[in-house]
Amino acid sequence: MTGTMNLRSRAQLLGCVLGLRSLALVLWGIPGARALDNGLAMTPTMGWLHWERFMCNTDCEEDPDSCVSEKLFMQMADLMDSEGWRDVGYEYLCIDDCWMAPQRDSKGRLQADPKRFPGGIRRLADYVHGKGLKLGIYADVGKLTCAGFPGSYGYYDIDAKTFADWGVDLLKFDGCHFDTLVDLADGYKYMSLALNRTGRSIVYSCEWPLYMMPFRKPNYTEVREYCNHWRNFADIYDAWQSVKSVLDWTSSNQEKIVDAAGPGGWNDPDMLVIGNFGLSWDQQITQMALWAIMAAPLFMSNDLRQISPQAKALLQDKDVIAINQDPLGKQGYRLRKEDNIEVWERPLSDFAWAVAMVNLQEIGGPRFHTISLSSLGGGLACLPACLITELLPVKGKLGFYEWTSSLKLRINPTGTVLLRLDRTN
Ligand code: GLA
Repeated sequence: MTGTMNLRSRAQLLGCVLGLRSLALVLWGIPGARALDNGLAMTPTMGWLHWERFMCNTDCEEDPDSCVSEKLFMQMADLMDSEGWRDVGYEYLCIDDCWMAPQRDSKGRLQADPKRFPGGIRRLADYVHGKGLKLGIYADVGKLTCAGFPGSYGYYDIDAKTFADWGVDLLKFDGCHFDTLVDLADGYKYMSLALNRTGRSIVYSCEWPLYMMPFRKPNYTEVREYCNHWRNFADIYDAWQSVKSVLDWTSSNQEKIVDAAGPGGWNDPDMLVIGNFGLSWDQQITQMALWAIMAAPLFMSNDLRQISPQAKALLQDKDVIAINQDPLGKQGYRLRKEDNIEVWERPLSDFAWAVAMVNLQEIGGPRFHTISLSSLGGGLACLPACLITELLPVKGKLGFYEWTSSLKLRINPTGTVLLRLDRTN
């Protein structure tokens, strides 16, 4: 008891020192703007999206198992249902570019390629709904999609209504082939309102800031009012270089983007490529851990028919998913980088914190890093003590730690240690 009192008074003293910093932290974490008022994406959307793994493969004769077709989506729906994916939260099965026929129909409506989607999207949506899942689709704000299929420019109302009629639950709206910045912004806004007017609940996934950025600073207050999530950075691909560049961009821009995220609207660092070919085991752990810290939408792009038990267990890790889906909905941020080790933290509900330590050194073996607990959560994460649980790479309780203690961890090259800190009162 005396020990606790002493600890408390020491903490109060330090509290004064850290006061300003903690205040800044608290303020920083408050979403700066109203979210799109459609009641959706109160936690980051979870699902599967075909692009990174299957791209624009339309050759069903040569490659019947991997072409973009209703068969592919039905197979993924079956597996999301039977292999536990839906049960841990992966709910939205999403079609990306290249699903369309090259022309609209006689009434100006988009239509699916009749060879690859013989049943049409409505029947696919019924199938997907029958598995307790939701269906996502893709369109583009400009005159053409990025792969050259019909764009929605001039057809926003028709397309919104078509998607609603088909029973679509999410729209990824790309930003290729726009003429002016006004068209880009107005198009994204118009489509948001058009989707709302259909009366159907449709998650609206934007790429507005990404296409805006080369010309003008995105206004995240506005983006958040119209979109449920938004891409800020280049397309991810199946390599450490790509994952690293997403993390690097995010930490370099965190002052601009972190407080834009919150229930209803999220920064989208793009798909999870876990379970594919390009990432080592440690790098897959890093992607999963950091996407949880960043409160990122979790869209896997992999082949659920051929995925290793290890990758599956990582993607289905309920403790890590719980961090990603934490109801407080505050995005984490990089706290510091020293000696090629990054420390990231994310405030969670019930005064808990998630902490990730990434070893970015790509030469040598595992490295030790010592972290003083009083440096976390603006000094509050472990005050007066906390229970620390390691979630990745090895699951287990590390024990109770006092605020004055430090923790020494071993981190593999390009790997991450993900911890959860639950404060004890
Ligand atoms: C853009 C998007 C990708 C994908 C492709 C499809 O590059 O950023 O996510 O949708 O278009 O063509």
